Amino acid sequence: MSTETPSTATPIPVRSPLPSVLSGTTAVLIGGSSGIGLAAGVLLRSVGARVVLVGRDPERLKAAVSRVRGAGAAEDPDDAVLGVAGDGGDEQTLAEAFDRAGHVDHVYVTAGRITGAGPLTGLSADDIRTSLGSGPLQTVFAAARAAAAHLPPGGSLTFSSGILVVRPYPGMTVPLSAAGAVETLTRALAVELAPARVRVNTVRYGRIDTPLLRSLPGLDSDEAIAAAGTSAPLGRFGTAEEAAATAVFLMANNYVTGQVITVDGGETLA
Ligand SMILES: NC(=O)c1ccc[n+]([C@@H]2O[C@H](COP(=O)([O-])OP(=O)(O)OC[C@H]3O[C@@H](n4cnc5c(N)ncnc54)[C@H](OP(=O)(O)O)[C@@H]3O)[C@@H](O)[C@H]2O)c1
Repeated sequence: MSTETPSTATPIPVRSPLPSVLSGTTAVLIGGSSGIGLAAGVLLRSVGARVVLVGRDPERLKAAVSRVRGAGAAEDPDDAVLGVAGDGGDEQTLAEAFDRAGHVDHVYVTAGRITGAGPLTGLSADDIRTSLGSGPLQTVFAAARAAAAHLPPGGSLTFSSGILVVRPYPGMTVPLSAAGAVETLTRALAVELAPARVRVNTVRYGRIDTPLLRSLPGLDSDEAIAAAGTSAPLGRFGTAEEAAATAVFLMANNYVTGQVITVDGGETLA
């Protein structure tokens, strides 16, 4: 059995690398009902892309669909923005998202949470197996399998990681092992899918002002976010749009693959 993805023989197309090239393409955003994924939905719809949002909480998803729809024209067709409620790690949910989309050009995965935090000696072997086997990493693999099966030449897959991968703190061994695996998967899958002319990249975020960041102790108000942000090199945390715009760049630029691009306001340097 061959271990290589069949090559399309023709090179990846040359086209404009500007975001406007995404007009008329379809992006599936796994984790698109909040934060960075939702901001990507708004940016993509504003340049004329069709958007399919996947998230677990149906109410949050409904609100997100309506917000993304608002970024397009009033006369947009109903299927310009779709919501598929379910777990992004569930292959059936992903199959439904791809089916309803009909044709998918780009997949962006921002679904994620921290699982398995705590000192390694305080975790059981089962805790570790569960965190690595059914946590965010499993979502990434499910998305990668679905994307690899569906994306056309010129398509792209973008994942998410965070700067703690390169600046860890104690008690994060298991979650950061999973995040580090996403970065390695990015390079490995980029090589595997290059013959199919499908690109794979990751955006590595610093502290980005989203509902996830605001769920952390002491960060639940604008004032608290602004005060904590003064310790960052540029004097504030990033916005969800600034983070999402990097994923939009990666979707548009046909000559970037296997890369991890950091959006952290210089925090890794500090
Ligand atoms: N914000 C930061 O400072 C920061 C820093 C480093 C890394 N990151 C990473 O960046 C990614 C996006 O973060 P964010 O700040 O935008 O978070 P967020 O505001 O919490 O949004 C995450 C989204 O993912 C969805 N989601 C979570 N698990 C899911 C699953 N299994 N299946 C489908 N949808 C799922 C959530 O909706 P439901 O819960 O309804 O499913 C939500 O819409 C995450 O992977 C996060 O770890 C963020």
